[in-house]
Amino acid sequence: MSPRPEIAHYDPFSGPPRFNSAARVGVRPGTELIHPIAVTGARPFRYTVAGLPTGISVDEAGVLRGTAPTVAGTHCIDVEVANEKGTVKRVVELVVGDTLALTPPMGWNSWNIHATAVNSQVIIATARAIVETGMRDLGYRYVNIDDYWHATSRAPDGRPRANPDTFPDGIEAVADEVHSLGLSLGLYSDAADRTCAGCYGSYGYERIDAETYAAWGVDLLKYDYCYAPAARSAAVSRYRAMADALAGTDRSIVFSVCEWGIRKPWEWARDAGGNMWRTTPDIFDNFGWTPLGVRFIARRNLRLADHAGPGAWNDPDMLLVGNRGDGRATGVLRTPNQLPGLLAGRRIWSFTGLNDVQVHTHVSLWAMMAAPLLASHDLNASSDFDLALLRNPEILAIDQDPLGAQGRLVGADPKGGLSTVGGIDAGSSVRRRTGRSVGLWQVVKPLADGGFAVSVTNLLRTKRNVTVDLDELAACPHTPEPVAGAYDVVDAWTMESMGDRSIIRASLPGHGTRVWVRRPR
Ligand code: GLA
Repeated sequence: MSPRPEIAHYDPFSGPPRFNSAARVGVRPGTELIHPIAVTGARPFRYTVAGLPTGISVDEAGVLRGTAPTVAGTHCIDVEVANEKGTVKRVVELVVGDTLALTPPMGWNSWNIHATAVNSQVIIATARAIVETGMRDLGYRYVNIDDYWHATSRAPDGRPRANPDTFPDGIEAVADEVHSLGLSLGLYSDAADRTCAGCYGSYGYERIDAETYAAWGVDLLKYDYCYAPAARSAAVSRYRAMADALAGTDRSIVFSVCEWGIRKPWEWARDAGGNMWRTTPDIFDNFGWTPLGVRFIARRNLRLADHAGPGAWNDPDMLLVGNRGDGRATGVLRTPNQLPGLLAGRRIWSFTGLNDVQVHTHVSLWAMMAAPLLASHDLNASSDFDLALLRNPEILAIDQDPLGAQGRLVGADPKGGLSTVGGIDAGSSVRRRTGRSVGLWQVVKPLADGGFAVSVTNLLRTKRNVTVDLDELAACPHTPEPVAGAYDVVDAWTMESMGDRSIIRASLPGHGTRVWVRRPR
């Protein structure tokens, strides 16, 4: 048994009000806005909102709703939220323009847990769980239907249609329900004739599909690349065709590029209209260094920090929290379905899942990398530990920081391949001899307020002691210019304040991670 990491069990329904994430939201001119302000604390809340543009109002659940102005520009909305314990104020920036996903999309996706067994009840039950668990109030917003929502064929007029058995009232009815809860709906297609699971794809139908998705109320499209040509130029033009079609609709639809990092999408997907792009093959429920494992995926994604920013995110795939080796897609590796006869869909390997320390490291690294945070387990069966991992406001604030900088390796393991600039002492002679800290990843993420977050991950199986020097990190090339005056250091996972200090000593279990945030006072 791995030791269970010490983390706060934050209750989103008690205490004074607290704003979470999404302080900047992008919306296309003249399109529908459904955006939860995302406040936790004891209910009821009293909202006082000023500076709303005409056409937008706030409902009793704190969701901004309406139609965005038709002219591009930024609207600063002053929001004050009070409950019996206190009052908080914040400016929410509504950025009307062409850029969506100004912070990494957060939500849930059906694939890893349900795979081809997705249906409307699962989606609606998940949306309700996001509200009931307070995840909506922490910034989780998108409920994404992945592959296999389709009927066996298109309608006679070429329009897409949903499987009448699994989505009997169609996608629109599901979207209506999801929207009524203040959430947004994601859908899935593929830039070829067929999707990965063998349903019809969108190639040649981009316009009719985008228009139909918009009419159904879809808010995000994940666009896969199975059965499509290998050349990068083909991928660019196929993604561009769908991005243009989506931009031509009357909805704000976030565009998620999924070609598994094969054609270096970080170099072109932003220009092709993507808001996020997968950087690696599919994640499976293990911590390994193979292309299917958390460590491999994190290592590759960590090297891509230069390419991420508001509206355009590296996507190291979904979160494995709560899967425990049982996810239909993440628990078992099979041969591809497209192989002939007996070779198709054969079990190659079963994964037993991440242990508590490894899953905690996984969430920590995804937040430090400003990754989209898409849970992918049964949200109605979350354990207390799963919820603690997914509902930590300090960790989510790191991921959702409006500066949108992806964390970088600093003073890292040579396997990370990046700079050796200091800040960490692994308590051994290794660093003194080599200038590097073997088996440790130290990641630094600059924050919009002039502070930064730092994480240290122990890649080895054995426990180790580390010393982190925050002043030294503040001198690194990518850290914000130090602000004169005092700082507050917070242990992000325990949410405990550590005062103003520059040296932190910690003990890391094998595969464990600690995360701290230093903000100007
Ligand atoms: C690909 C994607 C997965 C999932 C499946 C669906 O493998 O990478 O995330 O969408 O297709 O078939």
